[in-house]
Amino acid sequence: MPGTCVIGLQWGDEAKGKIVDLLTEHHEIVVRYQGGANAGHTVVKDGRKFKLSLIPSGIFRDHVRCVVAAGVVLNPGAILEEIDRLRVQGVRIEDNLTISDRAHVIFPWHSAEDRLYNNIAGGEPIGTTMRGIGPCYRDKVGRSLAIRFGDLFRSDLHDRIKTIVDVKNRIFRGLFDELDSSMGLAGWDADLNADKIHAEYAVYAKKLRPFASDTNAYLLDAVDQDRRILFEGAQGSLLDIDHGTFPYVTSSNSSGLGVAAGSGVPSRFVRKMYGVVKAYTTRVGGGPFPTEQDNEIGSRIREQGNEYGTVTKRPRRCGWFDAVAARYSARLGGVDVLCVMLLDVLSGIDELKICTGYKLDGVVSDRFPSMIEDLRNVEPVYESLPGWKEDITGARSFAELPKEAVNYVKRLGELLGRPVEIVSVGPDRVQTIRVQG
Ligand code: IMP
Repeated sequence: MPGTCVIGLQWGDEAKGKIVDLLTEHHEIVVRYQGGANAGHTVVKDGRKFKLSLIPSGIFRDHVRCVVAAGVVLNPGAILEEIDRLRVQGVRIEDNLTISDRAHVIFPWHSAEDRLYNNIAGGEPIGTTMRGIGPCYRDKVGRSLAIRFGDLFRSDLHDRIKTIVDVKNRIFRGLFDELDSSMGLAGWDADLNADKIHAEYAVYAKKLRPFASDTNAYLLDAVDQDRRILFEGAQGSLLDIDHGTFPYVTSSNSSGLGVAAGSGVPSRFVRKMYGVVKAYTTRVGGGPFPTEQDNEIGSRIREQGNEYGTVTKRPRRCGWFDAVAARYSARLGGVDVLCVMLLDVLSGIDELKICTGYKLDGVVSDRFPSMIEDLRNVEPVYESLPGWKEDITGARSFAELPKEAVNYVKRLGELLGRPVEIVSVGPDRVQTIRVQG
């Protein structure tokens, strides 16, 4: 089976959606395997914009089956909204979408917990998307207070919700009473109502039932039948719960290591791993970001690149390309080839910088630190490359790019130790350069 996987090598928002959309042409099945409605992709097709969050980007191709696999945390209201929005835009969503009955479900208490824990943790907040992602994964790992997608169709759903709501209400009342005055949460009605929640989720269950299935069985059959499967990672490798910049991470394995556990397909069936990077770096939320440019350069990149969150609309923090971080992610994920996105955003900057090392306690290293305090204290070591002035959004081959842009891309490939296969110079499908060996 020629399985292919696309992952982000930075802190998310690398424009993976566009690459998945391009590769989908050659695949029969597209699988989303971790994360939840914290992710956002924008796919531009024939000048029209489509926003995706939980549904794989393969949904635009008629021959493709889209799978939301077991490792995803599912917000049923959010996916229904997404389905409705896409249908209004003329996208067909019927038996081409299937959702794992093993996926865990996000409930209103999860987003409440996201807000609550953001306030009590102290220090620099993680700055989550407030979509209840972390709390839902926490309940999944804790097991006793979790509900899976398949459980929504059981006759004891009301009892399950009631049991959990009773526990959550006790926790919330205790915590909010302590916190309300100092944390600006005064007057928040922490009481969840099990009947109301059950009524809401029963409606979701009815609407989503046609999409529910055992996707593990479906995907393992597809492997036996040698079908072409594309795995679509959400967020970026540096946000990986185990291998990223903990605790400023998301709650799933968003690096290349997450594909097997999340999808239920052994990783040896992934034959080609695409690592996607922006030509610079961005980050949303808290946490250290060594190459951040909290200055005119950062603002320029933000405006040129429209670096505002697809999901939360938050302005993204922007900075120079960090080859130390991206190389770490590429190695961790077993990346074969690179896609360099948003190269056009750098047009017009005279001097471009790439971080090639971190200086810590006077020692320069190309290792990515495991401890957050070290990452906070590193001083980036840069090399400078000349920029280009030309508008490159019309370039369709390497030969049509200014030599400075070609050199910049080649240098990224050298530093990451992988060939660059695709360069993107704009959001549309056609604004893509395929680099010949
Ligand atoms: P959570 O995933 O909502 O728990 O947020 C944890 C961290 O991951 C925060 O810093 C978020 O901004 C970040 N994050 C989550 N999803 C995305 C994404 O799709 N793109 C970029 N950052 C993300």
